[in-house]
Amino acid sequence: MAVEKTILKALAGEKQTTPPIWMMRQAGRYLPEYRATRAEAGDFLSLCYNSDLATEVTLQPIRRYGFDAAILFADILLVPQALGADLWFVTGEGPRLSTITDQAGLNALKPASDIHETLNPVYQTVRNLSQALPRETTLIGFAGAPWTVATYMIAGRGTPDQGPAHALKAENKAVFEALLERITEATIEYLSAQIEAGAECVKLFDSWAGSLKGEDFDTYATAPAKRIIAELKARHGDIPIIAFPREAGDKYIGFHEKTGADCVALDDSVTPEWAAEHVQVSGCVQGNLASKHMVTGGDDLVRETRRIVEAFRGGPHIFNLGHGITPEADPDNVQLMIDTVRGA
Ligand code: CP3
Repeated sequence: MAVEKTILKALAGEKQTTPPIWMMRQAGRYLPEYRATRAEAGDFLSLCYNSDLATEVTLQPIRRYGFDAAILFADILLVPQALGADLWFVTGEGPRLSTITDQAGLNALKPASDIHETLNPVYQTVRNLSQALPRETTLIGFAGAPWTVATYMIAGRGTPDQGPAHALKAENKAVFEALLERITEATIEYLSAQIEAGAECVKLFDSWAGSLKGEDFDTYATAPAKRIIAELKARHGDIPIIAFPREAGDKYIGFHEKTGADCVALDDSVTPEWAAEHVQVSGCVQGNLASKHMVTGGDDLVRETRRIVEAFRGGPHIFNLGHGITPEADPDNVQLMIDTVRGA
């Protein structure tokens, strides 16, 4: 059967005159309608677990902009919570979790097979969306990659250099690796359930992959991604998968082949010309406009958007930002980016 959705075409390796487009954090605080629904939910986590409202915020950027993909509204930190960690968000600061630093902490976690009890409302959101989305819009599910999720579970919060996770890796490798193993198993279960509920593609966010150097990158970023992708493809046929090893730098080279990912998402620390030559040769790429253009707009936005479209014109490409859109972004700049991509 011919694939009609533009995102699925790109993921299948098709080069298109106009690249399909969506945006990381497209349902977020820069949109007044998101802020209103979030207020109705009470707080961020209540929004994630309220299937009707999570469906509503996922649809908002599709209605406003007609993006080619919708990404499920949830968070990578719901998995630690489903494994038994305490999770809360401090307004203006970010996430807080109970920490895991030793064998006792690890023993207190639930088995991966128990996560569904907590995550069922997320699967309901996916089911709602697969009914509600326009026919041409692709539904993307997601999870955090094991290393990135572990950095939050070990430190109990976001950290500038992932210091506590690197320290546990050095000081108690057995506990560190057992934690990664538990998260890997939970991630396979979680993404598998999203696919069964109707996700047409899944994305693995390894936001802190760039702090893993040399062999550590291969062991704790590449290998878990390869294992998750192989397991999902074994269970769900050729489900397309996007991997985002953020700030991987030279390690972006060969990431498609090494992990089996259909698409590699690029942050904005690499130029599109470099990435076309070294990464897109291996398959579809996604990215990589700097999020700051959604704040600053103007000629710079138009010039950089055109530059990215041009650089990736020779192969499969999904237009996106290099990281999530920020709350201070101007919704009009998002429209300007879309018009530029579609008119280029
Ligand atoms: O992209 C989307 O629109 C889908 C939903 C989505 C969210 N988080 C919603 C969210 C996705 C895919 C994520 C992924 C996520 N969450 C990552 C990986 C991607 C990345 O940004 O690097 C990470 C590291 C997290 C953890 C997380 N969640 C942090 C550190 C924060 C606080 C920082 C911030 O931006 O406030 C969150 C909160 C969060 N997740 C918000 C949203 C819309 C803002 C919460 C709010 O409404 O107050």
